[in-house]
Amino acid sequence: MKILIEKIEIQNYRSCKDCAFSPHERLSTLIGPNGSGKTSILRSVLLMKHLVHQDPLRRAGPKLDTSTVKITLRVDNKKIIHTADLFIDNDERNRDRIISSNEKWYMRDVTGNKKLIKAPVSVFGEHTRSRYLGHAHDERYFYRSFLRHFDIAGMESKDTRDIVSAVASFYDGVTYYSASQFTDPTRCPVSIEVEEEGPQRPPREFEGHRKWLLDLYGEYSNQTPEYLSYVDIVGKNGIGLLDDIKFTEMPVSNIDYTVRVGGKIRKRQRTKRLVIPQILISNSTLSPSQLSEGTFKTLGMLFYLMTGKGSVILLEEPEVCIHHGLLSSVVELIRNYSKDKQIFVSTHSDFILDAVDEESVFVVKNDIENGTEVSKLKSYLSAQDRGALKRFLRNEGSLGEYWRMGAIDG
Ligand SMILES: Nc1ncnc2c1ncn2[C@@H]1O[C@H](COP(=O)(O)OP(=O)(O)OP(=O)(O)O)[C@@H](O)[C@H]1O
Ligand SMILES: [Mg+2]
Repeated sequence: MKILIEKIEIQNYRSCKDCAFSPHERLSTLIGPNGSGKTSILRSVLLMKHLVHQDPLRRAGPKLDTSTVKITLRVDNKKIIHTADLFIDNDERNRDRIISSNEKWYMRDVTGNKKLIKAPVSVFGEHTRSRYLGHAHDERYFYRSFLRHFDIAGMESKDTRDIVSAVASFYDGVTYYSASQFTDPTRCPVSIEVEEEGPQRPPREFEGHRKWLLDLYGEYSNQTPEYLSYVDIVGKNGIGLLDDIKFTEMPVSNIDYTVRVGGKIRKRQRTKRLVIPQILISNSTLSPSQLSEGTFKTLGMLFYLMTGKGSVILLEEPEVCIHHGLLSSVVELIRNYSKDKQIFVSTHSDFILDAVDEESVFVVKNDIENGTEVSKLKSYLSAQDRGALKRFLRNEGSLGEYWRMGAIDG
């Protein structure tokens, strides 16, 4: 199913008091001063991925300071509106944790009526299925037991469930990259351990150095076409950040002891694989922790851009730490990938603004009274300013220069 985000409405989340915008179907470039709310907007989309990973059996908690994210989706030409009221907690690194949620679906194009269906998207996600299907005999039983549990009248029809399942995997595929998550390569582990056999437990974290190594290794061990083109692009024939990426793999035996009441000891032997990533750069073999900050960040960003399984990619300031000679290739890649995926980019780079189409630009501002507001560049500028911009682009310079002069959000 082809899914697109048509509209995002955010209430009471970070700097967004009541913010709505309709992104471009390919590339949306968010510009605006520091603190205007670009990250808040990208993170609100990432919340949908967190939502899919919620345990649906956790009962809704107290409705304290709730945030609302409403996403209007186009699923194979059908309009679906998913509204999530979320009670969110922040950890010390300003990462979100959803404590409880209430979700509603407007699916008239599927069900033929306007009745709102109350159902957590996580019931329909792969994650929940693999966690609970072990207890259920078959899929129908699984849904029946959840349907009873949540009383989600309206989800009995397979068509409806198929669409919500497609939305769940669409959300699950949301990929988020921020240079700050790739800060300080020295914190990157020199090795990781993975289970030798059986189902791999999905990592708890959604971002970070270890997660990147696990993802990188996952793509490498499956030799996915995306991985091969990634290595090609970052390698000598592409932008030349490195010569090759290698992984040394070694089985290691691990014995876990659990002591039960009465002093009974349970011994469990597990074989794990020790995986050591090595980056080859001009005759040196380096651990990821020895890479330069810019190389590390660019490798991370391009990895998520090129191998992101889903159809939505959120890229925070891709220009950070990238040499300007490389930036044009990176922007070209972003533009290319936006033909297949919906990409959201936040940026402070006039260079990036020069390289994207005017219709993809959105101006974000933060008003004390109204919070974050987003407008398409064209509707943000007055008719007079639009005329001035047109003349400037025709006679003098580029969109990036115009922006640098402070004529857009200055
Ligand atoms: N968890 C949070 N709760 C409340 N407010 C927050 C939270 N996180 C960030 N903010 C505030 O929201 C506002 C917008 O921040 P945001 O990070 O979205 O801005 P930005 O446009 O991405 O800025 P920059 O260009 O500096 O990255 C800031 O005033 C910030 O302090
Ligand atoms: Mg930001």
